[in-house]
Amino acid sequence: MAEPIITIENVTRRFGTLAAVDNVSLTVEEGEFFALLGPSGCGKTTLLRMLAGFDNPTEGRILIDGQDVNRIPPNKRPVNMVFQSYAVFPHMTVADNVRYGLNIAGVPRKEQDARVEEALSLVQLDGLGPRKPDQLSGGQRQRVALARALIMRPRVLLLDEPLSALDAKLRDQMRTELSTLQEKVGITFIMVTHDQDEALALATRCAVMNRGLLQQVATPNDLYEFPNSRFVADFIGTVNLFEGQLIVDEPDHAVIRSPELGAGIYFDHGVTGAKGATVWAAIRPEKIELKKRTEGDTAPKMDDTPEGNNVVPGIIRQEVYLGSESTYEVEIESGRRVKVTRSNLTRWDQEDFAIGEAVWLAWHACSPAMLQS
Ligand SMILES: Nc1ncnc2c1ncn2[C@@H]1O[C@H](COP(=O)(O)OP(=O)(O)O)[C@@H](O)[C@H]1O
Ligand SMILES: [Mg+2]
Repeated sequence: MAEPIITIENVTRRFGTLAAVDNVSLTVEEGEFFALLGPSGCGKTTLLRMLAGFDNPTEGRILIDGQDVNRIPPNKRPVNMVFQSYAVFPHMTVADNVRYGLNIAGVPRKEQDARVEEALSLVQLDGLGPRKPDQLSGGQRQRVALARALIMRPRVLLLDEPLSALDAKLRDQMRTELSTLQEKVGITFIMVTHDQDEALALATRCAVMNRGLLQQVATPNDLYEFPNSRFVADFIGTVNLFEGQLIVDEPDHAVIRSPELGAGIYFDHGVTGAKGATVWAAIRPEKIELKKRTEGDTAPKMDDTPEGNNVVPGIIRQEVYLGSESTYEVEIESGRRVKVTRSNLTRWDQEDFAIGEAVWLAWHACSPAMLQS
């Protein structure tokens, strides 16, 4: 396999006693759309700034294209950064904003003009070169910032929360455009975001950070279905977490006893050597089925799960109808509320659940993820 375009090796950045980035190691392959995802203050911007060369690691090293870039200044690195507050110069025309880096680099005016035109076309701002930034919409100003970075033909484009300044509708539109743009230019994108939807929608792979620490690096699908910790399970999407003791741990199945749930949680896979340990089951709301329950009936049995597991009684406490689906909060015997979503598959004959109605919550053996931290 080709060498990664970015290698981050045991990188730590301290500000006083705070490790803003704490012993992070990861690689990014050429052509990836890579996302750095995590809550505000977790160290995303600090890591991006070190890639750009505006800051340096306290410990560890960064390789770009196999070269240690520790002593290489920002303008000599094959990367370019689009800042969170995409600072376009208000007194300059769009074209002059876009040509800024070429000017500094001393590129001849004629070549500048051609490249400005090419860059503006790339971000669909053809013909808007003579305008001033205040004659543009927010989305257009964001594209000026993109054009200004892309005109330098970086190997890697670094984007810090590129869509956060836009309103919801524009953000959706620019999300699609960013994806198209990356396919068109074919260069590596590394995007910082605190918005999980944005990361899942755009990224080929995603690194989740928390308090300077790297929690997990995976594809969006794997982050959602195979989170490695409660933090990731909870940060990505919605999840029901149940604490319990691992009482059965075989190669092909495992059981958690969860007092809070009042039932066993049966898994179609085992873990290694953690029997007796405290673990957590993470179950997504769409993986729980609702079934009608009447006084005195026996619990339904899931076909892939031994009796007494993965089925608990509850009462519907809340319903939110969202058109394509409904979300429910179901109270179980311990008083805990469990979140369940249900697709509205047909226009009628849909089995409806009312507030106060008695139900069974049931899920398959393959549905919960087992977390050990
Ligand atoms: N120049 C700095 N001096 C001191 N602390 C800083 C500096 N830059 C960032 N920090 C701190 O480092 C942590 C991570 O910040 P940052 O990388 O900006 O987070 P994010 O981009 O994930 O929101 C925060 O606690 C922040 O206050
Ligand atoms: Mg930031």
